[in-house]
Amino acid sequence: MTLNSFSSRKIIIASGNIGKVREFKSFFKHLPLVVLEMSKGFEVEETGETFLQNASLKALAAAQFSGEWCLADDSGLCVESLDGAPGVRSARYASSDAKRVNRLLKELDGKKNRRASFLCAICVASPEKGILLKVEGRCEGLITHSPRGLGGFGYDPIFEVPSTGLTFAEMTIEQKRSLGHRGSAFAQLEDQLRKILNEMD
Ligand code: IMP
Repeated sequence: MTLNSFSSRKIIIASGNIGKVREFKSFFKHLPLVVLEMSKGFEVEETGETFLQNASLKALAAAQFSGEWCLADDSGLCVESLDGAPGVRSARYASSDAKRVNRLLKELDGKKNRRASFLCAICVASPEKGILLKVEGRCEGLITHSPRGLGGFGYDPIFEVPSTGLTFAEMTIEQKRSLGHRGSAFAQLEDQLRKILNEMD
């Protein structure tokens, strides 16, 4: 494959979440792929019981829909003293980021154990070959008593990484990448993706 065709391979981020898309665009900066956003109107029902099942069904449906390689991420926050909730239902916990954050803080009111982990599953699918890659990442932390920080998205303002004393919303995108669940999953994906691209070269 010539350098030209190599660098013109496209990958679509199959997500309507602008926070996730922003992170992925920055992650892909050093990979020879043209990163595109999914066209509006693409929706998939998340019927899986695990993050990996949901990421896989979203990536496959998106690749069929678009005819291009697609990356899908399913992620969420699992809180120990809530038996892992909101977990795969993190997006459906309430109708907006602010309401989700408020509901979680209310549920944890008076609870001593504030341990939680962010999980992220990422799948890449091609229209011809189906799932090409799947990886998972995790980040352990604590739920704060009130929101802190203006960056990030979703539950970021109430998730603190103890080794830093910072919430994800107080970190730069690079700091969140190096410590976070999505960055950890992407690091594994990047190695495997480079191998696949080299084999195609
Ligand atoms: P889904 O993966 O699109 O189903 O969304 C999962 C839910 O978890 C959404 O409410 C996201 O905002 C939230 N979420 C996923 N990843 C993160 C993250 O890195 N930071 C904060 N919230 C997240």
